[in-house]
Amino acid sequence: MTITTVRKNNLSEGMLSNKIALVTGASRGIGAAAAKLFAEEGAAVTLVARTESALRSVVEEIIAKGGKADYIVADLADPASIIQAIQTTIDRHGRLDIAFNNAGVATPVSSITEITEQDFDLLQAVNYKGIWVAMKAEIKAMLNTAGAGAIVNNSSVGSFRGNPGLSVYGAGKRAVNSLTETAAVEFGPSGIRVNAIGPGTTMTEMIGQLVAQDPEIIEKSNAATPLRRAADPHEIAQAAAWLLSDRASFVTGVVLPVDGGARA
Ligand SMILES: NC(=O)c1ccc[n+]([C@@H]2O[C@H](COP(=O)([O-])OP(=O)(O)OC[C@H]3O[C@@H](n4cnc5c(N)ncnc54)[C@H](OP(=O)(O)O)[C@@H]3O)[C@@H](O)[C@H]2O)c1
Repeated sequence: MTITTVRKNNLSEGMLSNKIALVTGASRGIGAAAAKLFAEEGAAVTLVARTESALRSVVEEIIAKGGKADYIVADLADPASIIQAIQTTIDRHGRLDIAFNNAGVATPVSSITEITEQDFDLLQAVNYKGIWVAMKAEIKAMLNTAGAGAIVNNSSVGSFRGNPGLSVYGAGKRAVNSLTETAAVEFGPSGIRVNAIGPGTTMTEMIGQLVAQDPEIIEKSNAATPLRRAADPHEIAQAAAWLLSDRASFVTGVVLPVDGGARA
C-alpha cells in the first residue's frame, strides 16, 4: 500500500512552519515517518533514538528534500540520556516548541503468567518512565524557552481495553494516557497542550517482530478493524502532526484513536 501526501513547495507554509520539534524513536517506523512529515510541514526536527546509522540516514533524507533535521543518540531507558538530549536540542536551536514522545518497545507475545520480570522492567523503563522523564524535561524546556508548547505521546489502541498477549504493554500505554491527561490539566494554564494518539496495528518493525511470534496477528487485527487493514506509519504521523500544530490549538488532554475504527 502506498500513501502519498501533497508536498509543499514552500516549507514556510507548512502546518508546523518554524517550529522546533523533537521526535523520539525517530530512527524507523512511526517516528521516522513523523520526523519526515514534520520537516515537510516546515519544522526543524531533532531526531532521537539509539541507532546512529539509522538516525543519520533519516536526517540525510530529510535534508536532501530541503528540510531541516539533526539527530541525537539517546536511550529512553536511561533518564540522564534523554534529559541530555532535550538540553542538547535547546543548545542547538535555542528553544523547544513541540515534542512527539514516540519511542517504545513491545514485550514478546505471552500471557500475564508467562511474561518475565525482565521484559516487564524494560517495557516500563522505556514506555512509561521514559515518557515521564521526557515530558518532565520537555515541559520545563518549553516553559523556559518558547514559553508555550505542545506534546504528543504515542500510546496504543491496546491501552483502551484488555490486551491479551500484550498485557504489560497495554497497561504501560494506559499509564501514558493518564500522564497525558494529568499533564494537560496541570500545564494547560501555562500554555502547554498535551495529547496522545492511540494507533491501531501499523506496519513497522515492531509488528514484524510480533508476526514472527504469531503469524496470524495481522489477519486477526484486520478482522477487528472496520477499515479492514493495518496503517501505514505515515497515517499515524499525520495525526501527531495535526495535534502538535496550531490547528489543534483548543485540543488538549485527548487520547486520539488512530486505529481504522478498531476502538469503535
Ligand atoms: N506498530 C504498531 O502497530 C503500533 C501500534 C500502537 C502503538 N505503537 C507505538 O508506536 C511507537 C513507535 O512504534 P513503531 O511501531 O514505529 O516501532 P519500531 O519500528 O520498533 O520503532 C521503535 C522506535 O523506538 C526507538 N526505541 C526503542 N527503544 C528505545 C530506547 N530505549 N531509547 C530510544 N529509542 C528507542 C527505536 O529506535 P532504536 O532501536 O534505534 O533506539 C525506534 O526508532 C511505539 O511507542 C509503539 O508502542 C505502535
